[in-house]
Amino acid sequence: MVNEQSNRQIILDHRPSGYPTSETFKMITTDIPPLRDGQVLIRTVWLSVDPYMRGRISDARSYTPPHPVGVTMPGGTVGKIVVSQNDSYPVGSFVSAPAGWQDYYISNGNNLRVLDPKLAPISTALGILGMPGLTAYHGLYEIGKPQVGETLVVSGASGAVGAVVGQLGKLSGCKVIGIAGSREKVNYLSDELGFDAVINYKTDSVADHLKDACPDGVDIYFDNVGGPITDAVMENLTYRARIIICGQISQYNLEEPDLGPRNLRQILTNQATIEGFIVGRFSDRADAARSRLTQLLLDGKLQYMEDIVEGLENAPDAFMGLFQGKNFGKMLVQVSSEKD
Ligand SMILES: NC(=O)c1ccc[n+]([C@@H]2O[C@H](COP(=O)([O-])OP(=O)(O)OC[C@H]3O[C@@H](n4cnc5c(N)ncnc54)[C@H](OP(=O)(O)O)[C@@H]3O)[C@@H](O)[C@H]2O)c1
Repeated sequence: MVNEQSNRQIILDHRPSGYPTSETFKMITTDIPPLRDGQVLIRTVWLSVDPYMRGRISDARSYTPPHPVGVTMPGGTVGKIVVSQNDSYPVGSFVSAPAGWQDYYISNGNNLRVLDPKLAPISTALGILGMPGLTAYHGLYEIGKPQVGETLVVSGASGAVGAVVGQLGKLSGCKVIGIAGSREKVNYLSDELGFDAVINYKTDSVADHLKDACPDGVDIYFDNVGGPITDAVMENLTYRARIIICGQISQYNLEEPDLGPRNLRQILTNQATIEGFIVGRFSDRADAARSRLTQLLLDGKLQYMEDIVEGLENAPDAFMGLFQGKNFGKMLVQVSSEKD
C-alpha cells in the first residue's frame, strides 16, 4: 500500500562487483515535501527495469556519469498525477517520467510526456512505444538500412528491443533469424512473430545453425548481447554487411574485460561496417519514430510481450533476472494500480 505522506525509494547501496545481488540495493522511506507552484506529484504505476542500469551503477567510464551511491535508482516510469500545482498536468492524467525506483516523484513538468490511455495501454510507453521500441527502430533503420531480401540476424531476440527489431525486419522484407535463450522464447518468435528461424543458444550450436539458417550469409546483424554469440555471427558476414552494436549484455557483469574481437578480419574481407549507438543520438527523430511504431501497433502489424512483477520491493529481483534471461518480453514492475 502507498500513501501520499511517505515515499518508498530503492537506493544504490554500493557498487557491485560482478553480478548485482539484493544487497546492492536498499529500500528507504522518506517524507514527501509540500509542492511548490508549477510542481506535480506523480504516483508511479509502472517502472521499467533495463539492462543499461547495470552500466549506471558501475563507476566505469561510459556515456553517462556513474549513478551516485545512496541515491534512488534511476529508471523510466509511467505514473499518475495525484496532486498538481501545474495547469498543464491535471490530476488523474498519466505521464511518462524519469522517476526511478520509488512510489512518488515530484516534477516541474519539464521532463514529462502526457500519455493517451485510449491510444495504447500506458505501459507501452516503457516498451514498444518507449525507449526500447525507439532503440530498435533507429538502430535498424538508421544504421542497418534493411533492404528487401536481405538476411537480418538479431541476438537477444525475444527481449524488449530484439522482438521489435525482428518484426520491423520482417516488415522491411528481410529474412529474419533470431537468437534467444529458451524453447518458449524460440517458439514465440517463430510461431507468433513470424521469424524465419530462431536458434536457442543455450541448447544448440549457434555457429552450426547459422550456417543452415543463413546459407547466403548475414547482411545485417543487430547485436544485443556480444560475446560468443557475436563471434559466431561474425563468421557469416556478407559483402558490405552492417553490424549494429546496440547492447553487450553478456559482458555487463564481467569482473575482467573479455578478450577483444579477434575476427575483425571478417570486417576487412567483407568490407563490412560495425557501428555502436545510443538511442538518445536520434532524439530529434523520436516523435516521428514513435508515431510510426504506434501506427504499426494500431494496424496489428506489431506485437509485444510484457513480463510483469508486482510491487516496488521486487524491482531488484526483476532487474537481476534480466542477466539470467528470466524475463520474457519487456520487464516491468507494477508499483501501483492504474485505477487508484
Ligand atoms: N544502445 C541503446 O541505446 C540501447 C537501448 C536499450 C537497450 N540496449 C541494449 O539492448 C539489449 C537488450 O535490451 P532489452 O531492453 O531488450 O533487454 P531484454 O532483452 O528485455 O532483457 C535482457 C535479455 O538478454 C538476454 N541475455 C541475458 N544475459 C545474456 C547472455 N549472457 N548472453 C546472451 N543473452 C543474454 C536474456 O534473454 P535470453 O533468454 O535470450 O538469454 C534476457 O532476457 C541490452 O544489451 C541493452 O543494454 C541498448
